[in-house]
This record gives sequence, structure tokens and C-alpha cells, in this order.
Amino acid sequence: MNDFNFYSPTRFVFGRGACDRTGETLAAQGWKRVLVVYGQGSVVRTGTLERVLSSLDAAGIAHAELGGVRPNPEVALVREGIAEARSESVDAVVAVGGGSVIDTAKAIALGVPYEDDVWDFFCKRATATRALPVAAVLTIPASGSEASDSCVISNDELGMKCGVNTDLNRPAVAIMDPELTFTLPAYQTAAGITDMISHVMERFFSGQPSVPVTDYIACGLIRAAMEAAPRVMEDPRDYDARASLMWVGTLAHNGLAGCGLNVPGARDGDWTCHGMEHELSALDTSITHGAGLAVVFPAWMRYVWGEHPERFLTFAEEVFGIEPVDPEVDDLSGIDEDITPERAAADAVEAAIDELQDFFVSLGMPRTLGELGITEGDIDRLLEGLKVTRGERFGTFATLTLEDARAIYTSAL
Ligand code: NZQ
Ligand code: ZN
Repeated sequence: MNDFNFYSPTRFVFGRGACDRTGETLAAQGWKRVLVVYGQGSVVRTGTLERVLSSLDAAGIAHAELGGVRPNPEVALVREGIAEARSESVDAVVAVGGGSVIDTAKAIALGVPYEDDVWDFFCKRATATRALPVAAVLTIPASGSEASDSCVISNDELGMKCGVNTDLNRPAVAIMDPELTFTLPAYQTAAGITDMISHVMERFFSGQPSVPVTDYIACGLIRAAMEAAPRVMEDPRDYDARASLMWVGTLAHNGLAGCGLNVPGARDGDWTCHGMEHELSALDTSITHGAGLAVVFPAWMRYVWGEHPERFLTFAEEVFGIEPVDPEVDDLSGIDEDITPERAAADAVEAAIDELQDFFVSLGMPRTLGELGITEGDIDRLLEGLKVTRGERFGTFATLTLEDARAIYTSAL
């Protein structure tokens, strides 16, 4: 087990009606004025925003509002939010929504005490040293942003989507009411499930040796998500399944699922698939992050698994119960060719990757880049972006070059 430094300072208020306790929870933080950030209308239509604002009023917390955050949130609205937060002298920024809204709130919080342009943090021209505190009222389990150290913002002018990782980004409070997720469109539910499973897998496949305690947490989280997924697709109001997904989404990305698997001196996890997906949603901002991952992750797995087959064999067994056939034990009559241990291992790994991909597709996620509107002619632009955000060589499970990334994108077309 590698040395690690796990920090998860967020207070989680979880359960039915939690959103009505936003005011009292934030008042206990000592906050008196907040900027409430939300998306393109779902929280208005569902009444969630009204409930949050009423609870702030009841707790005597003054508030300004900033709506209109789009999925794959853009830096222009962040800049607007920074100006508003400054002019209102707020103590904290409160996101009511999903990853896009929470990341906008985080970026505003980083930008308020910084005298230059907030994009400096995203293009690595500057490192944040201070931020306003953030609270999140979560409406979609997916990004894990309600507890993560990460904030991902797009810049349409530059055609980029970049992340900043710092403990300053970890929200002080996450209000998690699973009933708020009953109204999610099936596609968003599915993309969210894909994203949370991907957050676990990025860490599981870090290239570092097995850590049983973390491996069992990781595979348990994936199994819990896979067990709840068909239930919410069948019945969007299944409270226990929605609650399970909500908590999986948080634990998948607050760092717990990577303890001891981190590359010494670096982030926990490989994160190549996230990097490759962020280029897709930077190229076409209508692409949903989880849907991009549903295509990229299996393609990456097929390309790299041979680097550490033992990790994939553990994954196959713990998540899918798939083990390599063993000629000493299994009845192989009817199979005329000799099965070598290598061949048996490869078959087991490939079967597990196929099952994972079939699971994503069963939820309504795409199998190919073509289904997302990406063609071979787009790949050069994807690689240009990847070169800026990841460099010429990247990845810890396998060190890849841009030509490897081209091969992975091409295999998924
Ligand atoms: O904008 P509104 O009208 O609110 O609609 C949203 C949006 O269209 C809708 N929605 C959310 N909650 C709803 C709802 N509709 C009905 N009922 C509800 N309860 O869902 C759509 C998607 O929302 P979004 O916030 O974009 O989803 P998600 O949470 O998946 O966030 C995606 C963003 O997070 C980034 C992604 O790259 C992407 O930009 N990520 C952030 C991470 C982090 N900060 O740690 C890590 C992730 O890997 C990811 O990169
Ligand atoms: Zn993600």
C-alpha cells in the first residue's frame, strides 16, 4: 500500500427533505450572505430552488442568485459570478444542481479573492491559494463534485475544457436529498452512473499494485451502482436505489476509492480516459461527459489491459464474477483447442470489458464515437487538445503517446 494523504472535509447532510435544511446547515457555518448558483431551469421547474431559498430566508441568510449554468460549464458565466459575488460581498457560494453548477460555484469561489483572470488557474498560469467556501445542494449523482477536489470548466473561445485540482475545491457542505433526483431524465441518470463507475475505475487502474482494502471498496462501489442502475431505469422514484447511487457517486470521487493506489507523488489514478473524454466535450459541448466516458473507457481498456493483466483479472472476478477457465478444474469437453493460461486470462479480461460496455449500452449510453457525432476527421483536433492538457506522454497504468490516443479513438469510431 503506497503512502497517501486523504482529506475529505465535507459535511454530508443526507436524506429525505435534506434540502429544506440547507438554511440551518449553512447558518451553522456562520455564513450570512451567499451567492446561489443554478443551471438552466430544472431546479426552478422542480421547486428545488424555491425550497432552498425559503430555507435560507428562514435561517436569516441573505442571498443573490446566478442562474443559467449550462452542462460543460463555460468560463464567461464564472466571470459574471465573480463580479456578482464581489459586489454582494458574499461569505460563500451555494450550488443547487449537478457537476456543472457545482464546478461553476467552485470556480467563482477561486476567482473572488484573485485579482487577475480566473482562467489563469485552468491554463496553469497561476495556482490558487485562497477561495471562498462552497456548499452544494446536489440534484444529480454523477460528477462527485460535491466532495471532490476538482473543478472542470470550458473555454469556448479557446476550444478547451480544463480542470483544476486543489483541496480548496472541496465543498464545506453537501446537501444530499435523493428525492431531488426522481426528476432526472433517463439519459442523465445513465450518464451519471457511467461517470461514477469511471471515477472508481480511473483509480483502480492506476498501475499500482493491489491494495485489498481499497480494491474491495472500489469493486463494492461499482457493484452497488450496477445493482441500483436497472432499478432506477425501471422506477425513477425508487428511493433506496436513488439513495444508493447518490452515495456511490460521492464515495467514487472523494478520494476514498484510491487510498494507497496513488502513484507516489502524484494524483490517485490514471485519468487518461477523463482526459480523452474532456476533449470530446470540449470539441462538441453538447456531448454529455458520462456518455463520452461510456465509449472511451472500454476502448482504452482493450488497448492497455496487457500492461497489468492481474489488475484486470481482479476487476473481472470482483465485479463480474468472471474467472479464467482452468483446464484442471473446468469441463472443457467440446473445446478442441488447447487453452493456455495466457489465452484463458485474455478471454476472461475481454469478457469483463464486454460486460462492462454492454452494461453502459443497456442504460442507453452510446457504444461508438459515431453515435456522438464524432468522425475520423475530428481526431486530429482531439489530439491537439490532448497535447495541451496532457502533454505528449501521459497515463500511469500505461504510458501512452498521442499516437496511442489516436489508435484508441480510432478503435471506438
Ligand atoms: O441545467 P439544468 O436545467 O439544471 O439541467 C441539468 C442538465 O441539463 C439536468 N439536471 C440536473 N439535475 C436534475 C436535472 N434535470 C432534472 N432533474 C434533476 N434533478 O441534468 C443535466 C446535466 O447536469 P450537469 O450538472 O451537467 O451533470 P453532471 O453532474 O454530470 O456534471 C457534468 C460536469 O461535471 C464535470 C463534467 O466534465 C461536466 O462538465 N465533472 C466534474 C468533476 C468534478 N468537479 O469533480 C469530475 C467529473 O469527472 C467531471 O469531469
Ligand atoms: Zn467524470
